[in-house]
Amino acid sequence: MDLTGKNIIIGICGGIAAYKTPHLVRLLKKKGANVRVALTDAGTRFVSELSLATVSQGPVYRSIFPPTDTHGTDFTTHISLGEWADALVIAPATANTLARLAAGLCDDMLATCFLTLRPGKPVLIFPAMDGQMYLSHSVQRNIATLKSQGAVIIEPESGELASGQCGTGRMPEPEAIVEHIETALLSLVHSSPLHGKSIVVTAGPTREKIDDVRFLSNYSSGKMGFAIAKAAGMRGARVTLISGPVGLATPPGVERIDVESAAEMRDAAGNFFPSCDIFIGAAAVADYRPAAVIRGKLKKNDPELQFTLVKNPDILGDFGQQKNPVQLAVGFALEQENGIDNARKKLEEKNLDLIALNFSDRRTSGFEVDTNMLTLIKRGGPATELPMLSKEEAARKLLDTIENICRQR
Ligand code: CTP
Repeated sequence: MDLTGKNIIIGICGGIAAYKTPHLVRLLKKKGANVRVALTDAGTRFVSELSLATVSQGPVYRSIFPPTDTHGTDFTTHISLGEWADALVIAPATANTLARLAAGLCDDMLATCFLTLRPGKPVLIFPAMDGQMYLSHSVQRNIATLKSQGAVIIEPESGELASGQCGTGRMPEPEAIVEHIETALLSLVHSSPLHGKSIVVTAGPTREKIDDVRFLSNYSSGKMGFAIAKAAGMRGARVTLISGPVGLATPPGVERIDVESAAEMRDAAGNFFPSCDIFIGAAAVADYRPAAVIRGKLKKNDPELQFTLVKNPDILGDFGQQKNPVQLAVGFALEQENGIDNARKKLEEKNLDLIALNFSDRRTSGFEVDTNMLTLIKRGGPATELPMLSKEEAARKLLDTIENICRQR
């Protein structure tokens, strides 16, 4: 299974099997996963932070507290790391950490990730320890507690242990651990209400020609729409991405149709109106276009120049009006003031099921930047304000909400 774009935390405890974990991280990275490592203090006795940082191409997380208490330090990583993850894998898991997790402690980053992981995301725990320890009443009780909380416990293998004795307690080989992770993520994809659904996403700006070398457009980079298309594909949807001119790579598994003008985007999207399950309008479609396109290159002969602009088709609005009762329409509202009121108005006018309100300061949200601050408003529901998130994470929150709407239907 291709793990491209999957966010995986590898939690490593202080057991001898920890020496195999850089290889595990490498295997996951080779499959395209984004890997972050949470290492316990005891884990540092068995595997070096430098090795793990090198193979994971990121920092190794240990304490929930930043190294210094200087101003400007990010104090929220202990929450955001768990929220970021698609899966938490603890390998090897020692008796001590099993007890900490079962007791709900959050005294290091690994234990805190266990508490902050989003509901429904898989937790895979690979206990590895001496055979007698593993079979002890305390360890078995803690394992039962963790299982009752939804964690998947992978039984250790039998064989020769570090103690020199034979017994049950060995961590599976990294290749086998990768297979377990793939199985868990695959079953998650299959359980998403978006699995197998046909989703059309519009993205990017449109260009409205003035003459053969000039156009009207806007600053949209397409990043938000592309992140939505990618996240929907990762949940098993069949995604068609209709994009205006942008410099972004097509997300894996997504069918992309490139267009230039609003009229072209409308034509491409219109082909999918009857057959798609969900239409997500993330494009910054130019509202107007020049009434006539000048042939060739306009000369600067006149001191003043006037254009007549005519209204472009409202692509999302058209879909909203035509959609049948089982189709979902989702849009964005880019506002400057009275955001919630204006967004609700658009939701009604365009007959949408969900609208994502945002602002564009081109610093923290909106056009061009990598982050966004969305307020999600469901038809007939309250407005839910999200914090500033990466566009990838914001896309996932949007899709979580769409999944909820699908489940409630
Ligand atoms: N949209 C569209 N076609 C258009 C204009 C907008 O599909 N011609 C979609 C956008 O993709 C977005 C939503 O409609 O999902 C809202 O776009 P926005 O520009 O914020 O609102 P408008 O309807 O254009 O209204 P205004 O510019 O007056 O705020």
